[in-house]
Amino acid sequence: MITCETLVLPPFQPAGQGLLCDGVSVPAVIEEVGAPAYIYSARAIADAYRAIDRAFADYPHAIHYALKANSTLAIARLLRGLGSKADANSAGEIDVALRAGFLPGDIVFTGVGKTRGELEYAIAAGVGVINAESPGELDRIAAIARAQAREAAVAVRVNPDIDARSHPNISTGLRTNKFGVALQDARAIYRSRRDTAGLRFVGVHMHIGSQITTAEPLRRAAATLVTLAAELRDDGVPLRHIDVGGGLGIAYDGGQVLTADEYAAAILPELRRLSLPVVLEPGRAMLGHAGALISRVVDIKRYPDGRRFAVLDAGMTELMRPALYGSFHRILPVQPRAGSFTPWDVVGPICESSDVFARDRDLPPLEVDDLVAILDTGAYGAVMASNYNRRLLAPEVLVEQGAWRVIRRRQTMDDVLALES
Ligand SMILES: Cc1ncc(COP(=O)(O)O)c(C=O)c1O
Repeated sequence: MITCETLVLPPFQPAGQGLLCDGVSVPAVIEEVGAPAYIYSARAIADAYRAIDRAFADYPHAIHYALKANSTLAIARLLRGLGSKADANSAGEIDVALRAGFLPGDIVFTGVGKTRGELEYAIAAGVGVINAESPGELDRIAAIARAQAREAAVAVRVNPDIDARSHPNISTGLRTNKFGVALQDARAIYRSRRDTAGLRFVGVHMHIGSQITTAEPLRRAAATLVTLAAELRDDGVPLRHIDVGGGLGIAYDGGQVLTADEYAAAILPELRRLSLPVVLEPGRAMLGHAGALISRVVDIKRYPDGRRFAVLDAGMTELMRPALYGSFHRILPVQPRAGSFTPWDVVGPICESSDVFARDRDLPPLEVDDLVAILDTGAYGAVMASNYNRRLLAPEVLVEQGAWRVIRRRQTMDDVLALES
């Protein structure tokens, strides 16, 4: 079921004078901040947040935005302002969440391989719940909490062995993945540590993967989690919530995939069997469509066999997803030239053969100095950037109510070298 409420109006729209982001001229922004740069629409982020919030409106729920998708302070603050809570995956993300104004109790801390230092920091900060990955981690949490004369609220991350039918590199709920404890062990783990001093079991957790575009794996995961929670309730574990993780995908081809309403319709009947409040940890679905990476063509090459390359000033250092997962992103010239569409390989400048954004992509004529927009890069874009090849992190710009501002300036070589002696 597609409703207009769940469709997010695309923030980037072609116009005569060049691409617009919610009415703001992209070429004008780049004129000032330079390329490459990320541009985000605050309106699209709010629309995406509200679509999920509305879809779950008649069920007790909390949205904990997964900061790993994009943790730039202004983005985190924007989501807090909308009413979101936070899902942090490291001490660094907890720190950013606190600086962005999230209350410690509104942060869930997930993550495989939390260090002792990270656990000490999270427990001292008083995060709302720690999603534990193993019995060993539960024991470390208990010891740290006791040493701090505290009690840590915990949930166990369960691996249900469900195929999310996403890319193998972003599937996390299979037996072969490193995440969580095996479903068949979960009940015994809760039972064996139910009375451990320093621990308070408040929930059950699961996250089966990212970019999930069909409802069935998410429904099955929710059903499995509810069944486990019911068993734990019978065992006398006083759970307060069921955390179904994130994973809601977006349509990178500009079409329509699983909507927030369809997602809710799939999992709510399962959740209603127990009526425990649900925690949702969406990341990509909130930010993905809201951002574009704007990049300049720095070279054009033609091979004798006719293959054409447009070499950009952005590469896998700015946007790693295509090199990491072979992921598809739509690419639009910011000010399209007249002429027929021909196939182009759109590549980055990095000395790696995987530094390719698109192969044989039909595009209008491109020339050196043209700008292109790589769409749907608001999530898992800027956060995955690196300084490889001594390249400097690109700036990020937020468009809000017809105006724009830099929310992270371009990195300088002095910033980078400040760490070196
Ligand atoms: C534990 C956890 N929660 C939430 C998310 C967010 O996932 P997504 O961006 O697919 O919604 C992730 C990302 O993989 C995650 O690992």
